[in-house]
Amino acid sequence: MTTTRKTAPQISQEITSRVEEILAKMTIREKIGQLNQVFSGRKIDERNLEDYIEPIRAGEIGSFVWAKLSPSDRNRLQREAVENSRLGIPLIFGMDIIHGSRTTFPISLGLSCAFDPNLFEKAQTVASREASAEGIDWIFTPMCDIARDPRWGRVAETCGEDPYLSTLCNAAQVRGLQGEDPAAPDRVAACLKHYVGYGASTGGRDYNDTEITEWTLRNAHLPQFHECVSDGALTVMSSFNAIGGIPAVANRHTLTEILRDEWRFPGFVVSDWGAVRETINWGYAADAAEASRLSITAGNDMDMLTEHYIKTLEGEVDAGRVPIAVVDEAVRRVLRVKIRVGLLDRPYVDEAAYEAACMHEADLKLARKCVSRSVVMLRNDGILPLSPELKNVALIGPFGDDALEMHGCWSERGRPEDVVTLAKGLRDALGEKAELSVVKGCAINTTPKTKTLQDGKIVADESAPPEDADLQIEAAVAAARSAELVIMAVGEPCGMTGENASRAYLNLTGNQQALFDAVVETGTPIVTIVFSGRPLCLPEVWKKSSAVLYAWQPGVQAGNGLADLLTGAVSPTGRLSMSVPADVGQVPIFYNQYRTGRPNSGQYRDASLRDPAFWFGFGLTYSRFEYGKVDIVSDGNSTPAQAVITIKNIGDCEAKEVAQLYVRQLACKEGARPRQELRGFQRVTLNPGEETQVRFELTDEVLGYVSRQGESYTDNGGYHIWIMPHAGRGDLGESGALYQHSREVAGS
Ligand code: GLC
Repeated sequence: MTTTRKTAPQISQEITSRVEEILAKMTIREKIGQLNQVFSGRKIDERNLEDYIEPIRAGEIGSFVWAKLSPSDRNRLQREAVENSRLGIPLIFGMDIIHGSRTTFPISLGLSCAFDPNLFEKAQTVASREASAEGIDWIFTPMCDIARDPRWGRVAETCGEDPYLSTLCNAAQVRGLQGEDPAAPDRVAACLKHYVGYGASTGGRDYNDTEITEWTLRNAHLPQFHECVSDGALTVMSSFNAIGGIPAVANRHTLTEILRDEWRFPGFVVSDWGAVRETINWGYAADAAEASRLSITAGNDMDMLTEHYIKTLEGEVDAGRVPIAVVDEAVRRVLRVKIRVGLLDRPYVDEAAYEAACMHEADLKLARKCVSRSVVMLRNDGILPLSPELKNVALIGPFGDDALEMHGCWSERGRPEDVVTLAKGLRDALGEKAELSVVKGCAINTTPKTKTLQDGKIVADESAPPEDADLQIEAAVAAARSAELVIMAVGEPCGMTGENASRAYLNLTGNQQALFDAVVETGTPIVTIVFSGRPLCLPEVWKKSSAVLYAWQPGVQAGNGLADLLTGAVSPTGRLSMSVPADVGQVPIFYNQYRTGRPNSGQYRDASLRDPAFWFGFGLTYSRFEYGKVDIVSDGNSTPAQAVITIKNIGDCEAKEVAQLYVRQLACKEGARPRQELRGFQRVTLNPGEETQVRFELTDEVLGYVSRQGESYTDNGGYHIWIMPHAGRGDLGESGALYQHSREVAGS
């Protein structure tokens, strides 16, 4: 059965008329000016504001990126555009506000572990209010990339490895940023990035090439963008990668044939940072003029940073190599967004509103909740929640009292003084009941010593001992010996996660492993909290900790959210949105891989590694749940069949379970389907001994896939259906059932 493809909401006649009226008056230079986005430095004071006045008045700048401007300076630039240029078209100011502005939330990879899109919507609502109050009109979020390789530092910004969960989380972020009306004073334009396939970078090395088949593109990398475009996201950002040798910024198939012709996207596409120029580095364009021509004719409307468009496109049009109609359509798209985000009616920001817009009590409460919901409990031998009888606790590790690390890998407005560190949160939670000793133990990282050779080459200086000014292993061991319990706070530094932060090893940095091993030797029980922007391979930590909480980069309320979990005030419910490899040698490893022609063969000869250390969807609670058998219920008429299961709390406390629905189509002529695909989840709260029935409708959307032509299909035939606490290898087992789907049953 084919279902019609969803398309974007179209532009109103009123906006269309406004756009045409402005366009008709524009010179070609003013048109290209709207497609020119300049970089104003990390702080505007690194550049002289006056440098921009002339080009703004001439209509040669349409947007600023990364303008770290005061609201008054932002208005000052805006006034030049609105009051001192010929047509008075306002500037649009764009900024990266990835996981919160002044109020930082957990990084997206962490918050996606809450399996709760509603939290994303609320968090981004706060971010849009704080950002718009400082004069930002446009936020380069959500990141819709799929994360299948933890060596790639940008997995931190994604919503994990699964298209279904990512789609729900990304769409929720667009709702939070744009609201019902993006023109409202506390809303901004969202930007879907990075379009498309950036997460498939070869070797997990950032900015690298990707080889993605149309089948995988359609079913793993595009669904998130398609959903958000259909929901009305205003802008898209093209990505750094190439697909099959064609840089994304100049890829006509994705930018025009899919985004425009199939999905009817009316907004505009901005290139990523310098990507237009990078078509030359790729060996695709010969020079700046060809880079501009190839990018804009493929469908990339705005040029971020390179100023190639403003310098070369007029000549390309005059020479007949770029039709003016292409420029006109790009300008229409930019003007539509400027109107939709309210700039033509309200170009200025209230210069006194920023401080009052930030860090509301309710925002901090939300941030605290996001922390406890994003943390995944990977191990617990019963030591958690902490006993109220504890008298002496040692907090050891470089992340225990570090504020900046809590803000995460991409926080531009977060202030260290706003952060509740783990040490602070624990002190407040333990109060007078227990003594807390805090020992850093070692540096977060030890910068490798290098030396520069005669010929200028920089090489590692093996002779220089790794300098670790914070090395205090003896002090840490002493603290551990005199404590009843150790809380270890270890991980990877923010500076090694995010953009341009690929790693070849997924281990603890610096001397942290040595610190952990020394504390293990004391015999004092250890609760380990891991702070990182990606899944790490820490087999010794998993094995020798009494409990493990995976905290990602938790944001401004880190210490309070973690203390809530440690004390049991809140029960852990986080579920992994990305598989944790058993070893970096397994990478890439993700749950929704193909079954292959030999599902039980092809293992490594030199390591008994078949499965990840922890599956996608895995997470412990303070209780235990028992899953019954999946039944398929179908009343034979037009309503979809249902998968039903009974789940029981067999533990001794109330807890929340996230029951997950996975499907696999046994035979698909369009192409083999993954061995399991998440297509639904439900959170159930049960008291000890209580059980409940959980049911999922097996609709066309739940069972379906996207064809290479972009059509949604659901085939007749056999499916394996599972309802489980996490993904697995796709063997049917007791948590699965065979289901014969027939179109008649599922209705027209
Ligand atoms: C960066 C990133 C992108 C960001 C843009 C603007 O290089 O790739 O995610 O939005 O440039 O800062």
